[in-house]
Amino acid sequence: MRRPLIAGNWKMNLGLGDSVRLAEALRTGLGSVPDRDVAIFPGFVSVAAVARAVDGSPIKTGGQDCASELDGAFTGAVSATMLKSTSASMVILGHSERRHVFGEGDAVHAKKLQRALDAGLLPILCVGETQAERDSGATSAVVLRQLQAFLDAVPTLAFPKLTLAYEPVWAIGTGRTASVEQAAEVHALLRRAFRERAGAVAEDARILYGGSVKSSNIAALMAAPDIDGALVGGASLQADEFLRIIHFQRN
Ligand code: PGA
Repeated sequence: MRRPLIAGNWKMNLGLGDSVRLAEALRTGLGSVPDRDVAIFPGFVSVAAVARAVDGSPIKTGGQDCASELDGAFTGAVSATMLKSTSASMVILGHSERRHVFGEGDAVHAKKLQRALDAGLLPILCVGETQAERDSGATSAVVLRQLQAFLDAVPTLAFPKLTLAYEPVWAIGTGRTASVEQAAEVHALLRRAFRERAGAVAEDARILYGGSVKSSNIAALMAAPDIDGALVGGASLQADEFLRIIHFQRN
């Protein structure tokens, strides 16, 4: 049985004070979570303070992205080692907003993955199709291409460190969650593809679902065999709602 991971992606929301207050509210409200993992991903400027606020609690902290280069003249970028120096332990890579808003492709995300692993960060690797890609029947081809680009970038020894996330672009921030059947189908496909490359390691790998996850739909999603957690955007910005998601009851 894979241990669920509930991750909150705060995106470009909350200043330093509000980020620390949300982290403290989560820490206080979390209680005991013996059977699941929790991680939060604040904006870069708040990562260090949030990591301090949750230090010693079960909550892990990460960055929403990292640079594809090691260091140097890359104004505005944040490297994996800089992120690691804040006590962050995780990083989200390949998020659809990086792909579709910032125009970053598979190759740059593959480099970011290498940087993240070299720095000792545990990555959540996002894949997902747009509405147009789904409508044209390209979902499988798109998510498998995105997955292969990540897997081709790292040695098999690193495979146990990888968490995957299926985030259909049309479900992100839209209130339109993929149906459990739609999500489960892609999760099973990703597991099969990962198994072909990684063998038994794929059975232990967590595959998160992301896209309009709320306290009202988390339990149904988590009942699907290959859904091992959630990457939550909007609903992770309210402590009460995110705590309800974390504490979902198994059906
Ligand atoms: P959402 O975002 O929950 O607001 O749809 C999910 C994500 O982008 O990770």
